[in-house]
Amino acid sequence: MFTKQTLLAFVGALALAAAKTTTEVNPTQAEIDADRLTARPYSPVSNVRGLVFDRFVNIWLENTDYETAAADANLAKLAKEGILLTNYFAVTHPSEPNYCASAGGDTFGMDSDDFLQIPANVSTIADLFDTRHIAWGEYQEDMPYAGYQGMRYPLSGANQYVRKHNPLVLYDSVTNDAVRPRQIKNFTTFYDDLEHHRLPQHMFITPNMTNDAHDTNIGVAGNWVESFLPPLLKNEYFSKNSLVLLTFDESGNYTHPNRVFSVLVGGAVPQHLKGTTDDTFYTHYSIIASLSANWGLPSLGRWDCGANLLDIVAERTGYVNWEVDLSSAYLNQTYPGPLSDSHYSAKWPVPLTDGECSAGNGIAKVVKKTYHGLHATRDYTSPVPYDEASGNNLGIKYSRTLKHGKKQSGITGNQ
Ligand SMILES: *[C@@H]1O[C@H](CO)[C@@H](O)[C@H](O)[C@H]1NC(C)=O
Ligand SMILES: *[C@@H]1O[C@H](CO)[C@@H](O)[C@H](O)[C@H]1NC(C)=O
Ligand SMILES: *[C@@H]1O[C@H](CO)[C@@H](O)[C@H](O)[C@H]1NC(C)=O
Ligand SMILES: *[C@@H]1O[C@H](CO)[C@@H](O)[C@H](O)[C@H]1NC(C)=O
Ligand SMILES: *[C@@H]1O[C@H](CO)[C@@H](O)[C@H](O)[C@H]1NC(C)=O
Repeated sequence: MFTKQTLLAFVGALALAAAKTTTEVNPTQAEIDADRLTARPYSPVSNVRGLVFDRFVNIWLENTDYETAAADANLAKLAKEGILLTNYFAVTHPSEPNYCASAGGDTFGMDSDDFLQIPANVSTIADLFDTRHIAWGEYQEDMPYAGYQGMRYPLSGANQYVRKHNPLVLYDSVTNDAVRPRQIKNFTTFYDDLEHHRLPQHMFITPNMTNDAHDTNIGVAGNWVESFLPPLLKNEYFSKNSLVLLTFDESGNYTHPNRVFSVLVGGAVPQHLKGTTDDTFYTHYSIIASLSANWGLPSLGRWDCGANLLDIVAERTGYVNWEVDLSSAYLNQTYPGPLSDSHYSAKWPVPLTDGECSAGNGIAKVVKKTYHGLHATRDYTSPVPYDEASGNNLGIKYSRTLKHGKKQSGITGNQ
C-alpha cells in the first residue's frame, strides 16, 4: 500500500515536538514572524485505491445562491466538463458552522463566525483517514504558516486568510496533535506539493476572501476558478482518478433555500457523465459519507451516518439514496448546542455508537470507545440534518424504495 517514502515520512514526523492548541485569537505580527521560522509544512503521501476515485479535492467558494452562481459564465462552462449537482444543500448559516460540518459531521449548534474550539473528544475526517493511512491536507490561501491558529491574516487591512473558513483548525483533536496542524498549509505549499508529486489523497482548498467571492462577487470567484482549475484538470498527476468538488459554503440569501451550485469534475468522472446533471439531495455531510464509502472508512456517527452518497459512489456500493421532498426544505436554521449563541445548551451532542450508516462500514472505533453506552443526541440516521429545530426545517419528508421493493419513509422533527 505504502511507498517507502511514505513510511519514512510518517516515522520522521513522529519525532517532532508536540504542537499546542492556542486560544490566542489575535497574535501579534512579531509572534507570527517568530512562529513562521519554526513552522514546517508536512506533506505525507499515500496510495490507497478507492472504489470510484483515488483522490478527492474539495474546493469551497462563498455565500452565493445556486441561481446566481449558475448564471456565471465561467462556472457554467465548468459544469459542462462534469456533473452538475442540482440539489446540493449547505446545512445552516453563517459560514463557520458549514466548514465545521464538513470536517466533523455536525455544527454543534454553531450560529456565528466566532473564535471557537471543539473539544478533543470530537472526531473528524482526519481520524477516519487515519484508519487506512490516507494522506490528507488543507490548502488555505494566504495563511501565514502551516498550522496557524489565529483568527485572520494579515492582522489588519483587507481580509485574506480567515480561520472561520478553515474546517480542521476548529478541532482540538487536530490542533493538539504534533503532526496534524502541519498538514494545514498555505497555497504556496500546494504548488510545491503539486510539483514534487506530494499531494495528499484528500484535500480541502480555501481561496482567499477576494477569490472566494466573500468580499467580492461571483464574477471575481468565477475568474479565479477559471484561472485555477482548468490547468490542474489538464495536469495528469493532479487529475488522474481524482474527483474534484467545486461548491459553496452556503447560499447568499438567508431566506432562500440553502441550495448551492456544485460541480464534480476531474479524471474520476466517467466520460459518459460529463455535461450531465444529478438531482439527488446532498448536503456537506454527503461528502464525508461518500469518502467513507469510497475508501472503506467508518462513519463519525454524526450527520454523515444517514447522509446520501454521491450517486456515482452509491451505484458502486449498491446503497439506495433517499428522495427528499424539497418543497419546504430551506436548511437555513440553527439548533440548540454548546456552540450556539441564540439557542445555547451546555451538552455536547453524543454521536451514534452503533449502526451501519450509508457508507456501510459502521462507526469509527474511537467514537465507539469515547461514547460507549451513551445515547445519540440527534437523529443522525436521517438524510436531512435537522430533527428538532425551530421553524421551517421540520416536517421535511423523505422516502425510498429498497431493491427488493420495500418502501421506507421518514420526516424531520418526528423522532
Ligand atoms: C503563503 O501563501 C501566500 C500566497 O497564498 C504567499 O504570498 C506567502 O508568501 C506564503 N507565505 C508563506 C510563509 O509561505
Ligand atoms: C488574494 O489572492 C490573490 C492571488 O490569488 C492576490 O492577488 C490577492 O492579493 C489576495 N488577497 C486580496 C486581499 O486580494
Ligand atoms: C440574493 O437574491 C437576489 C434576488 O433573487 C439575487 O439577485 C442575488 O444574487 C442573491 N444573492 C446572492 C449573493 O446570491
Ligand atoms: C429561512 O427561510 C425562511 C423562508 O424564507 C424564512 O422565513 C426564515 O426566516 C429563514 N430563517 C433564517 C434563520 O434565516
Ligand atoms: C467531551 O468533552 C466535553 C467538553 O469537555 C464534555 O463536556 C463531555 O462530557 C465529553 N464527552 C464525553 C463522552 O466524555
